[in-house]
Amino acid sequence: MATVLVTGGTGYIGSHTVVELQEAGFEVVIIDNFSNSNREVLDGIASITGKKPMFEEVDLRDRKATYGVFEKYPGIGAIVHFAAFKAVGESVEKPLAYYENNLLSLIHLLEAMKRYGVNNFLFSSSCTVYGEPEQLPVTEDAPVKKASSPYGNTKQISEEILQDAMVPNPEFRVICLRYFNPIGAHPSAKIGELPVGIPNNLVPFITQTAIGIRDQLNVFGDDYNTPDGSAIRDYINVVDLARAHVAAIGRLLDGKQRSPFEVFNLGTGKGLSVFEIIHAFEKVTGVKIRYRVTNRREGDVEQVWADTGLANRELDWKAEKHIEETLLSAWNWEKFLHAKKSTG
Ligand code: WQD
Repeated sequence: MATVLVTGGTGYIGSHTVVELQEAGFEVVIIDNFSNSNREVLDGIASITGKKPMFEEVDLRDRKATYGVFEKYPGIGAIVHFAAFKAVGESVEKPLAYYENNLLSLIHLLEAMKRYGVNNFLFSSSCTVYGEPEQLPVTEDAPVKKASSPYGNTKQISEEILQDAMVPNPEFRVICLRYFNPIGAHPSAKIGELPVGIPNNLVPFITQTAIGIRDQLNVFGDDYNTPDGSAIRDYINVVDLARAHVAAIGRLLDGKQRSPFEVFNLGTGKGLSVFEIIHAFEKVTGVKIRYRVTNRREGDVEQVWADTGLANRELDWKAEKHIEETLLSAWNWEKFLHAKKSTG
């Protein structure tokens, strides 16, 4: 089986994808600089698969060090690129750091691909490129809207860079996966989301409220034009999401693409509101969540969920896990983290 280079492979989605790639028989090399993760994740991966992935602590902004990884591992058959800063709010405060890190990293990888003859590239993109969609569910040909944050803009610009890089490099093969809202953790509770500081995202804030780290959850608005007034998203289990990456890598390596540049929406195809998430969490865990309704959060869209037909057909992949199982996995992971902290 080919060797797959996973950048950002100790991150949330990256680590779950490494597990699924290893379990599918791929050799994996991880590049990470631990800017939003830690070295223990490598042990978590190994404790699930029985195999510690090869690892290089490299910052992709360092072109020489990036090339050094390709020198060291000549058998790389494909790249899965996760490594990027991804906090929407932080990107508004530090736009240049986001443009430098997210775009320069991508450019160095593409230069290395050319230099070392690696042609298959799987890009971690985001539904944020759609903004507030005119039509629901969102299909891949929905118009890309002006990004509402520098973070979202780096995803849009990255997709444009990929398309432009393919013109002089007809041997390149690219798949962009546009994630909706990844949540949950591996059922083993050995890996999961490691939010740094106060979580921006809903589900880690819920689990931290449930375990007592946060006093209460703020529900950002209940005056949206939705059935219960709270905003709607397409929450996809992170293991389902990781499995879509394995399917996409297989498509690239087997030359099964219909065109050299493809885009797939990865969601469940179902929208759930904030209140529905809260109630589902309470039902499956038996833990009540204290919350209060506050103003809407700047930049939030009212409702967005995916049309997943293209990914279902072309990747022969479908999100399978039920929301309650997913929320329970997030809760089990939070309890694992808490137990680890208390035993030191
Ligand atoms: C979900 C819903 C909030 C927190 C973001 C990025 C996206 C991707 C996923 C990186 C919204 C509400 C949240 C809270 C709340 N990230 N909420 N109280 O904003 O849909 O997407 O994360 O790739 O690119 O934009 O996810 O989890 O922050 O919010 O009421 O404390 O929960 O208003 O309706 P979002 P989220």
